Amino acid sequence: MSTIEEWTQEFEALCSRASNLFISESHENVRIRVLRLAEKAVHQLHTPMTYAEAQTWAPLELFGAGVACEMGIFDVLSKHSGPLSTADIAIELNADPHLVARIMRLLDAHYMVEQVSLDQYAANAITRDYVQPYRKGNIMTQVALMPSYFALSAWLRHNNYKVMPDANNCAWQVGSNTTKTFWESMAEDPSLSKYFNDYMTIPRTTHEKDFVDFYPFETIFANSSAKDILFVDIGGGLGHQAKRVRSAFPVSRGRVILQDLPQVTGKITVGSLPDIEVMNYNMAHSQPVKGARIYYLRGVLHNHADHVSAQYLSHFAAAMGPESRLLIHESLATDLNPTKNITRFDLSMLASCGGVQRSEVEQKALLEKVGLEIIDTISTPRDWSIMEARLKRDLI
Ligand SMILES: C[S@@+](CC[C@H](N)C(=O)[O-])C[C@H]1O[C@@H](n2cnc3c(N)ncnc32)[C@H](O)[C@@H]1O
Repeated sequence: MSTIEEWTQEFEALCSRASNLFISESHENVRIRVLRLAEKAVHQLHTPMTYAEAQTWAPLELFGAGVACEMGIFDVLSKHSGPLSTADIAIELNADPHLVARIMRLLDAHYMVEQVSLDQYAANAITRDYVQPYRKGNIMTQVALMPSYFALSAWLRHNNYKVMPDANNCAWQVGSNTTKTFWESMAEDPSLSKYFNDYMTIPRTTHEKDFVDFYPFETIFANSSAKDILFVDIGGGLGHQAKRVRSAFPVSRGRVILQDLPQVTGKITVGSLPDIEVMNYNMAHSQPVKGARIYYLRGVLHNHADHVSAQYLSHFAAAMGPESRLLIHESLATDLNPTKNITRFDLSMLASCGGVQRSEVEQKALLEKVGLEIIDTISTPRDWSIMEARLKRDLI
């Protein structure tokens, strides 16, 4: 057998083994490392021509997924235990069978469904994940952000590549033909707002479920009683993280408060957050809750430019007591070889709201600027970390 054939067979064997290799979440670190190596291997197999082809057509993969989400294709396939023909799917969706066939072949070519034989499609793990409200929200939010991505190069060119963007001055205004910020636009669009809030409930790391074990809450909440304010989830969306803390620490241990803009708090359904106080709050104003044990921001600061974030942080610092902690739960860009995801995330922030995906050093500098000092940074297998800060000891 020629070397090329042997090599091809070896690669095929590796591919079929890969799907069974890392079943347990405890292998997350290894899985991510191997995934990056595999991506590198694929990259080395590309010629500049095939690389450019893959890149320039990539947005259509997302748009195809968006169409399939809204049509309900993932829902129909996931409901059935066996494969379905395009005609079966079209009947269930009351859609044109030719259109369904075209979408199905795109979904199969991008591993979102499984073509098991001629005109027979079955659900796979991705199909089943894509029926989750957070995943639909994830896909449809990205589709909604696209106008800002399209406008990014023109907007940067127009500003001679010398800009200090913020939510009022970024590619979002150009791409969406509006003077409003992304947040203001979303407040007026119930469908985007639902997709975005669902998206925010997405598990950010595999450690999500044990978030309360992951950070030493018990130590920070030591000797607390019902009147103490334990946890203020600032920009906490629909309250998924606040809920996790509340379930681990009963009312007798202290208060849990969720803060967000009225357009978000107004979407919280009655009874969905038992024993959590919900408060309208805009970070542009001073923080009304003083002396809490923990002020927590997950995925919030990256939405805002440095000068805006510094202003918000100064409000939190002014509310903190000597024992208060500020936790910034954020995905950080490594200085050496950052991941694809984080660099994409960064451009998304730049285009849509003038935000930035910071490195550990940048985020630390921002916190220090407002009189805070970093106690610790706890990392997770993906890019997400919790940076823990308190008031600088010499300023107390
Ligand atoms: C990316 S989401 C993160 C939501 C949540 N913390 C999470 O991790 O799922 C950012 C949140 O910040 C809120 N937000 C944006 N600007 C704000 C402001 N000026 N004041 C308060 N909240 C704000 C948004 O409404 C949104 O819920």
